[in-house]
Amino acid sequence: SGLRDDKITEETKSLISSLPSHTESQGHKICKYQGCWYYYNALQGVLNFQRGFQPRDTDIILASYPKSGTTWLKALTVALLERSKNHSSDDQHPLLSDNPHEIVPFLEINLYVESSSPVLAKFSSVPRLFSTHMPLHAMQETLKDSPCKIVYVCRNVKDTLVSWWFFRCAIHKIEPDRSILESMFKSFCNGTIYYGPFWDHLLSYWRGSLEDPKHVLFMRYEELKAEPRDQIKRLADFLGCPFTKEEEENGLVQKILDLCSLRNLSGLEVNKTGKRNNLDHKYYFRKGEVGDWKNHLTPEIENKLDMIIKEKLKGSGLKF
Ligand code: A3P
Repeated sequence: SGLRDDKITEETKSLISSLPSHTESQGHKICKYQGCWYYYNALQGVLNFQRGFQPRDTDIILASYPKSGTTWLKALTVALLERSKNHSSDDQHPLLSDNPHEIVPFLEINLYVESSSPVLAKFSSVPRLFSTHMPLHAMQETLKDSPCKIVYVCRNVKDTLVSWWFFRCAIHKIEPDRSILESMFKSFCNGTIYYGPFWDHLLSYWRGSLEDPKHVLFMRYEELKAEPRDQIKRLADFLGCPFTKEEEENGLVQKILDLCSLRNLSGLEVNKTGKRNNLDHKYYFRKGEVGDWKNHLTPEIENKLDMIIKEKLKGSGLKF
């Protein structure tokens, strides 16, 4: 479930006892390590990653704050990289038989949660494609001097909050309850939330992309929605696999966008009925709209979130 504590080593338990900790409204414990709040087993994954991950020059890491478009970014990147593999027929495409999170697992939540030297046999092809919800600063020491590429996708805080509320209720199999939304809103505001504070997460990648634009790409869910063609070309250029003129003439850009659309992915059997670690793939797909928060947030919540984000991002050059 991603919430169990049974993989925690004694060493980590002792570290946790020295860290700031907090109990979330549903009773899950989180602790703050290097400025970011983690569930205990995610922290174990972070520590294992920091200890054991050996980057390769060609690695690609897809990063996001939860509920910001991770699934979409994974699908798009997989589709871009698959182009070079010349499938003889469409049904060999991995996105048709696997959920994007199966194809691109999380470093700290999946691969490194149990060990600092996991067998990465599945990652034999080049480039290796990983994902993470860690802020950039949690990876910087480990990736130091590596030319690997990091793509970050972010989303406006109000839609992120609403998306997370629905997701959390769905995975716990409870009705979307306003009291849960209210308590998540409070956690968002004071930063004590899984992978929070939200603004520090944003800023770590924003600054990273300004300092090192060749290796860190900063993308936005809203821009992907508004100008998908331009954005996927931007992604392809950044990853070093730009569309050729011929591919463009053959309509490949649109083909990839169609393949990765919410409607298409959510309609696939694997995503309708598949699951992993008791988490149904279908919960990763909901509405996929910009501004759905308007249907759920009160003006008070809206104003408070706007105010906080404005304040926290002040002077960074990042507009939200
Ligand atoms: P909503 O809850 O607003 O619908 P993440 O992938 O980071 O968990 O984010 C989940 C959000 O992305 C959900 O937003 C989900 O509907 C949306 N999403 C998932 N797949 C998508 C796709 N292929 N295209 C656009 N949005 C997608």
